Amino acid sequence: MTSLSTLSDLSERMHRLIRAINDRNINAKPGKMAPKIYTMKEAEPLIGRKYHTIRAAEKEGRLQPRETLADGRRTGYTLADINRAREVFGTRLRRGAGDDPIRIAVSNVKGGSAKTTTTVHAAQYLAEHGLRVLLVDCDPQASSTAAFGYVPDDDVNVSNTLLPLLDGEQSSLAYAIRETYWDSLDLIPSNLMLYNAEYGLAVEANKNPTALLRLLLGLQSIEQNYDVILLDPPPALGMISLSVMQAANALVVPTPPALYDIFSTRAFFSMLVEVVETLQRHFGEVDYKFVRLLVTRLDMNSETQQQLVELLPEVMGNTLMRHSVTKTAALDRAGMYGRSLYEVLPDSVPLKTWKRAVNHFNKANEELLLLIRQSWHSHAEVLREEGLL
Ligand SMILES: Nc1ncnc2c1ncn2[C@@H]1O[C@H](COP(=O)(O)OP(=O)(O)OP(=O)(O)O)[C@@H](O)[C@H]1O
Ligand SMILES: [Mg+2]
Repeated sequence: MTSLSTLSDLSERMHRLIRAINDRNINAKPGKMAPKIYTMKEAEPLIGRKYHTIRAAEKEGRLQPRETLADGRRTGYTLADINRAREVFGTRLRRGAGDDPIRIAVSNVKGGSAKTTTTVHAAQYLAEHGLRVLLVDCDPQASSTAAFGYVPDDDVNVSNTLLPLLDGEQSSLAYAIRETYWDSLDLIPSNLMLYNAEYGLAVEANKNPTALLRLLLGLQSIEQNYDVILLDPPPALGMISLSVMQAANALVVPTPPALYDIFSTRAFFSMLVEVVETLQRHFGEVDYKFVRLLVTRLDMNSETQQQLVELLPEVMGNTLMRHSVTKTAALDRAGMYGRSLYEVLPDSVPLKTWKRAVNHFNKANEELLLLIRQSWHSHAEVLREEGLL
């Protein structure tokens, strides 16, 4: 066998493996997992109303009543039900008419620094809290796309990725948006062919730097329908990432607190300074509403990591998110079932491990939600009253 045929055989086998794992996890069509069901106890705080008020609205016909099952229990709520209830009670979180949609790049040049994990969990958390979210998979590795139940190279056609926009064939991104099984969480998927955009843009941007504005303009053409757009770029400062840095108006940089990761993150910031200087020379000021370092995959058993994390606030000040995300086996277990921590089914992960992990993701995401709301003028008064501004 030649090396080429060995490699192509390996690639084909890996593909079959991924297909088999995905087929085991997804019982329905690609990207169509059953939506999460919330109990009344879980739904109450999300709706922002107590049981009695929700029940009263159901009895009055303002809300669709729950069905009663044979065992006397009532069916739960989907996020779509919760959002309908929020609309009825006026409790849905929203940006105001004068507030800018937030376009957050979750970036780091270092591979495996938990960009996708951070993006997917943030998108689901923010959607669960009522925001209209768009997740844009900007990475040819397409991990975010896979997280929503697709085998990217089978289930996604390249014409539905960012490629036509980045190639200049399309000017609006409307063609690429697809709903997910999470209410108010849409996805622009990716697949391996998106890699072609790196070459295309590199050649073109040389003569025509405005090619780097295509992502920004494409997002601006559809952002009126969203509160938050999350961008998951590839782990390199290539042309796609440059477009992402230009398109974003906020930046979250996840990094594990290990020495090599910190070195890479430092290198990322140095490169970023140059990139932003170049972008500013061409297109005017790049103005991020917030820039935050997020410590992820913190190993609680590592003394050196603990020491590093203690040192970080002193050095980083308020550019560091106060809450770190710990390393957890729960993520691996959930991932084997094609799910995030917010989707995992009971019994697939030990309850205590899952609760601890979710708590850490919730804390970081709550902080992110606050940063988003702090950048919206229409939320200023409420936040001030709550002492959060
Ligand atoms: N808190 C965590 N605990 C345990 N494992 C984690 C945690 N966060 C991420 N991981 C794991 O680390 C690996 C890399 O994470 P992820 O894919 O999110 O990184 P990435 O930065 O998007 O990678 P890439 O640079 O390839 O796009 C994955 O296997 C993921 O499940
Ligand atoms: Mg990734």
